Amino acid sequence: MASLQTQYMGLDLNNPIIASSSGITGSVRGVRSCVDAGAGAVVLKSMFEELIIGQSDNLDREIIQSEHPEAYEYIRAQLGMQLGPRPYLKFIEDVKSQVSVPVIASVNCSTPKWWISYAKNIESSGADGLELNISHFPQSTDEDSCDIESRYVDIVHEVTSQISIPVAVKLGYYFTSLGNIMEDIVEAGAKALVLFNRYYTVDIDIEKKRFVNAVTFSSPEEMSMPLRWTGILSGRLGCDISASTGIHDSEGILKMLLAGASTVQLCSALYQNGPGYIAELIEDLDKWLEKQCVSSVNGIRGLARQQDAAGGELLKRIQYLKSLEEAAKYEY
Ligand SMILES: Cc1cc2nc3c(=O)[nH]c(=O)nc-3n(C[C@H](O)[C@H](O)[C@H](O)COP(=O)(O)O)c2cc1C
Repeated sequence: MASLQTQYMGLDLNNPIIASSSGITGSVRGVRSCVDAGAGAVVLKSMFEELIIGQSDNLDREIIQSEHPEAYEYIRAQLGMQLGPRPYLKFIEDVKSQVSVPVIASVNCSTPKWWISYAKNIESSGADGLELNISHFPQSTDEDSCDIESRYVDIVHEVTSQISIPVAVKLGYYFTSLGNIMEDIVEAGAKALVLFNRYYTVDIDIEKKRFVNAVTFSSPEEMSMPLRWTGILSGRLGCDISASTGIHDSEGILKMLLAGASTVQLCSALYQNGPGYIAELIEDLDKWLEKQCVSSVNGIRGLARQQDAAGGELLKRIQYLKSLEEAAKYEY
């Protein structure tokens, strides 16, 4: 068997497959199913900043309402249904007592001030790492892009200066200069970037004439964006990259590793096939490596990026010239 041993933000993983943060990793049973199937690490379901705010002893309604106006009422209604801040810490302890792979806690946040001290509690509870899912969705036309980017960097800086466990940052790709903000985030102390978060998509129900949630799960086509950016950024920022979104099979995993990802994160595929699917993926990965006569997964990491020798032309090309060549094969 080929060695699948992987280093991710300083943690030792048996293989590069991580169970992504989701409802599956929101219970000890779910986490155990992933680990029993062979997951190299797990990212626990996120603790949402709004819950910390909602259960804060110094609840300042005016500030909260001004910072989370759209979500405020909804969040308050949902509070009882989520793991609160204290139960979440107990959850980390319980998971740690049951599994031996690295356990990465997760916080979904958009401002630093509410939960910096909470990050310390997460560390004390035994988490091996922390993933910050920073999702600020600027809806106001007044918000300046520099302010938005500073917000991200400030959060990372504040957290990494308070705790010593490694911090990964999971974020979306809606930035003008993605490489630049990623670089700032790494300089602020992030040991890994999770590329990318997948936001809920919306649709409109034309009968009810209202917005509704569109598709909950990703499709394999969606891995194009993380694949491109993993190829562009891996090996350049001094941090690990964990590829996320649209990875549904071993081929998808291999592509991300060839692009330079240290690890891959799976969510939709685990919902659709069950956590036991991880065992199948590991077997496929091993078979492929053996067929290629490669003894370690480290031997293929970043190979495709290195092959794209002409300055990454394919990765950089975002206009239609290549597509026109392909399309010319079709008659119409
Ligand atoms: C039902 C569900 C719950 C999720 N919960 C979280 C969460 O609590 N925190 C988080 O960072 N991401 C959450 N995600 C996002 C996933 O971790 C992942 O980033 C996204 O689904 C893209 O990966 P995929 O293509 O493998 O599904 C959730 C996704 C789904 C479908």
